Amino acid sequence: MIDLKKIPSEKTDLDNYEVENIFHSWSYQPAQAPLRVESAKGIRFTTADGRERLDFSSCFVSHNIGHQDPRVIKAICQQAQTLASFAPSLSTRPRSLLGKMLEEITPGDLSRTFISLGGTEANEAAVKICHQFTGRRKMLARYRSYHGGTATAMSLSSGDARGWAQVLGGTDLITVPQPYCYRCMFGQTYPACDLRCVKYVDEVVELEGGSEKVAGIICEPVTGANGIIVPPPEYFPELRKVCDKWEILMIADEVMSGFGRTGKWFAMDHWDVVPDIMTMAKGISCGYLPLGATVVRKYIGDRFKDQFFAHGATYAGHALGCAAALAVIPIYQEDLLIENSEKMGKYLLGKALELQEKHPCVGDVRGLGLFVGLELVKNKKTREPIMPVAAKIRQGTNPKLQVAQKLGELGMMAMAANPGNVIAMAPPLIITRDEIDEGIAIMDEALKEADKHTES
Ligand SMILES: Cc1ncc(COP(=O)(O)O)c(C=O)c1O
Repeated sequence: MIDLKKIPSEKTDLDNYEVENIFHSWSYQPAQAPLRVESAKGIRFTTADGRERLDFSSCFVSHNIGHQDPRVIKAICQQAQTLASFAPSLSTRPRSLLGKMLEEITPGDLSRTFISLGGTEANEAAVKICHQFTGRRKMLARYRSYHGGTATAMSLSSGDARGWAQVLGGTDLITVPQPYCYRCMFGQTYPACDLRCVKYVDEVVELEGGSEKVAGIICEPVTGANGIIVPPPEYFPELRKVCDKWEILMIADEVMSGFGRTGKWFAMDHWDVVPDIMTMAKGISCGYLPLGATVVRKYIGDRFKDQFFAHGATYAGHALGCAAALAVIPIYQEDLLIENSEKMGKYLLGKALELQEKHPCVGDVRGLGLFVGLELVKNKKTREPIMPVAAKIRQGTNPKLQVAQKLGELGMMAMAANPGNVIAMAPPLIITRDEIDEGIAIMDEALKEADKHTES
């Protein structure tokens, strides 16, 4: 064995380790190492080639407050010097405080939290709580969803091509459509549709055994990776009524849409709907340390005073992660980032609509706050998608990856490699008008790659 303190670390060594020793997520394993990031600050990051680039994805919608905020780094260092972590059977100060802080910022009587390490784990905990609380196995999820990478979370991620290789099991899953008005699965047009998609859920719950068999439904309030799908305003209030009618639990997966991303603390706040369970990650700690949380309403939390809570993890409520969240969350309030998200989001949406006018490949533009998507089509009139869903997991290139590559060359990262035909722009919430203009100019150039695949 080599001296472990002296592992060769020249550029070529590191590149070689990336290619031979690391599993890269959701992709064929690359023949060449990806760009190496050396540092990041605010909305920009610097790669080993010395170039500064624009982060228009907030690192998969996690770095909402921007990179390397000294207030958060200081808080983490202070906590690390006192107590990095401890067994979750005992209390720590950051964990207790975070529990209270989450009660303050979440809607309604959401009040008891299980703290984990990320979004997938937060959803796994939510589904287990649904099963344990109701004693039922059936869960509803929606096509074009992503709820995480582990087996159960991947099962819930219906209609995301990344799940096709997964052997499914465990939760008994039923899939229903999204309120995806641009491609309504019922062939309807909003508002004349009278929300057929919600009525369908009601019928499905009845046919699946209603209150006796169905435990809950999981939804992304604004669907992220599968296409920035913003529901019509009546959707969640009506879905809430269906859940109440059948006494099934509504899980709002706010992993991407939470923490100011859509211009409110949580996307559900736009419709004044209180879910029974809310899951969150990403913006809770903004990537400074991994953290996820599953928050339940009081009536659910109280039940577990008399019923065994069958879930846990060694690093549940990790003190460092909680300390990071305790430093991050007040920054949204102090720096008026949620207000900025609403204001700059409107500006970004306006600019994206201009791109739609200009580019034959942009069929639809959707967004809420700083969460804006461009749906790529071959033909604006027929709305034929620029590539099939399966393109995500096929080897080789595709029009969206070509756009992503061009963005990289021009010095910007956006969410262009996610499933579906949508390129999403989700910059950190600290962004200014000038920085949006800078990003839009790059996107304008990169979209020409997709224009080449249109039939105009
Ligand atoms: C809506 C949603 N839920 C869950 C997850 C999984 O979160 P994580 O990658 O932190 O496990 C993601 C990740 O992108 C997500 O977008």
